[in-house]
Amino acid sequence: MPRLKGQVAFVTGGGRGIGQAMALAFAAEGAIVGVADIDPATTAATVREIEKIAGTARALVADVSRREDCLRAVDQLASEFGRLDIVANNAIVFRREHVSEVREDTCERMIAVGLKSLLWSAQAALRHMDPDRGGVIINNTSPVAELGAANSAVYSAIKGAVSSLTRSLAVEFGPRRIRVNAVCPGSVPTPGARQISSEAVYESRRQRTPLGRLGTPEDIAAAAVFLASSEASFITAAILRVDGGVTVFGGA
Ligand SMILES: NC(=O)c1ccc[n+]([C@@H]2O[C@H](COP(=O)([O-])OP(=O)(O)OC[C@H]3O[C@@H](n4cnc5c(N)ncnc54)[C@H](O)[C@@H]3O)[C@@H](O)[C@H]2O)c1
Repeated sequence: MPRLKGQVAFVTGGGRGIGQAMALAFAAEGAIVGVADIDPATTAATVREIEKIAGTARALVADVSRREDCLRAVDQLASEFGRLDIVANNAIVFRREHVSEVREDTCERMIAVGLKSLLWSAQAALRHMDPDRGGVIINNTSPVAELGAANSAVYSAIKGAVSSLTRSLAVEFGPRRIRVNAVCPGSVPTPGARQISSEAVYESRRQRTPLGRLGTPEDIAAAAVFLASSEASFITAAILRVDGGVTVFGGA
């Protein structure tokens, strides 16, 4: 029996990488998926992939950092299918740079996409998730929320905020039966991540990962499916590491 049959999921940044894998995994478990991405071509490609596995998906081209866009996309999905059960906040804009190089416009853009969009989708969840059935919000944080990492000041601060927002919303939304959790992926060579990490960087991460390999988008998506499913019905405010152990690695 598919674990998410009949449910409706909204996935931000669903055009590629981890977001695309989440969209496909939700669909494979029977959910109808709204693929929300700023890139029309990749959004349409993810919808086609879901249709290939006989799933149902809608392309919702949106800049989810803009409150109006984000709410409109969720409104469109929920009004077509009559419900909203799962929100996966995954969209990101990432720059790796020394703090001395951080520009006001890129910093604001990263915060808007990586953090503010979570507030807008939370508002959309409150608007559309059924008060009796409740729902699930899954955020995407990172090991850098807990660890120090050079050249990642803005990204680390955003992910720290995503982790604390996850806990705050879990408390605030618990009475509405909305569970709020986060996945914390280790290193996953997605199209976005590959733009900023060399093969040498990946090799060093492999060596620091107790399980001896990098993550795949499907590893992270499987954890998101679990958090979305009824198997996780008493889990909220959790930060689920899906990282091969890299976050706790303290040496050989
Ligand atoms: N890849 C990793 O190693 C890794 C590790 C830890 C955490 N994460 C987290 O996983 C998530 C996905 O990462 P990824 O590596 O798949 O990224 P990616 O760059 O490959 O994909 C990000 C997607 O977000 C979309 N997007 C960007 N701005 C948007 C906007 N304003 N509105 C809608 N969509 C927008 C992009 O078009 C793209 O499809 C992020 O939250 C990231 O921080 C990734």
